[in-house]
Amino acid sequence: MNYYNNYSFVCKICKKEKAIIKIPSQRIKVCKNCYNQFFENRIKKTIEKYKMFHPSDKIGIFLSGGKDSSTLLMALKKLYPEINLQAIFLNLGIKYYSEKIESYVRDFCQKLNVPLYIHNLVEKEGYKIDEFVFTHFKNKICSACGTIKRYLFSKIAKELNLTVIATGHHLDDIVSTMLALFFQGEFLGLSRLEPVLNPFFPNQAKKVKPLYYIPEKDIIYYATLNDIPVSNLLCPHSEKGPPKKIKKILDELEKENNQIKYQLLSVFTKKLIPLIKSQNFYKKESFVSTCIKCGEVTSSLNNICSRCKKIELLNKTENKTLELTYEEFINCTKNLNSNWILIDLNNLKEKNLLESSLRKLHKFFIPYKNKNIFLIGEDPEEGYFLTLKLRKKGFNVYNIKKENT
Ligand code: FES
Ligand code: ZN
Repeated sequence: MNYYNNYSFVCKICKKEKAIIKIPSQRIKVCKNCYNQFFENRIKKTIEKYKMFHPSDKIGIFLSGGKDSSTLLMALKKLYPEINLQAIFLNLGIKYYSEKIESYVRDFCQKLNVPLYIHNLVEKEGYKIDEFVFTHFKNKICSACGTIKRYLFSKIAKELNLTVIATGHHLDDIVSTMLALFFQGEFLGLSRLEPVLNPFFPNQAKKVKPLYYIPEKDIIYYATLNDIPVSNLLCPHSEKGPPKKIKKILDELEKENNQIKYQLLSVFTKKLIPLIKSQNFYKKESFVSTCIKCGEVTSSLNNICSRCKKIELLNKTENKTLELTYEEFINCTKNLNSNWILIDLNNLKEKNLLESSLRKLHKFFIPYKNKNIFLIGEDPEEGYFLTLKLRKKGFNVYNIKKENT
């Protein structure tokens, strides 16, 4: 999509340069410099209003390869060139995805001259997110991954002596999550959506959201205008959860009332959250303890945090194989008698099944439900992602990979 134009008039702010882009939330057309200044100043105002950090802080930004965290890093580097910034990338072990994002992130940090710390889940923690397809979290991998990431944020913050973690949550994220939590009656979760989250314990990092008042569209424009390398890759586990659906509804409502998101944010932050916090059940001491396994904060009654419970599940799973070399496949079939089938991805392509709905795929594979299914094709990535999809549907599938992949 093309976000900018060569308008025939000058910028509405500086009245000098040619206007090339519209500030979506203000409906005025401005030049690149004024857009950047307007955008960065709004972030600065939020940071100052909530006293998000001091010059002595060490600020960590976990990069996902997406536009939000990358935009945040670039804007902070421009606004505060002297501040101690640390970029972090969690390589979650999502095969054919994590490594590509890692290379984006490496290039971007090099370009910005910001130090980058890479935490590789397989090397440092001994497991990977893809392995959740072997557990009952197979259809909720995103939420399991969220738990793991929160734990790692806290662990890495300690290792790197971060005093502040800045996250790329923007207006659309926050309002849609608030509404989703509200509908679910998760009022305690709502209170975690404030612009600043002070730590429970003194040695933890404070969490701040400098993009709190920035609409998503403005971020897309900033990222495009400033050539921020944004990965268009979609995580193979991404889910269309309630916040995403609510985001769409909010966008529709915004067409009628362009202030709706700010109005909702104001009701939540000024009325509802203070009300929740004033209730007795909010008393943090009553539901917080530390996990007996990892030492992180938990509200679990048996003192084992939800991350550690999930890791226990992975540890209990003996065979977590998703890919085999051709040789391994041959050896494997020797013990399977005839209880296996080899499927050529080219055949699925000819039947237009690779791009089709899960329902159609399921229908095609259902006759092989009790067999071991081996997929073979030209593109190991295609086969791997299909393996993940089918594993989530309960099939016993393996991808045959080419050597060296
Ligand atoms: Fe965590 Fe996709 S990034 S499941
Ligand atoms: Zn734990």
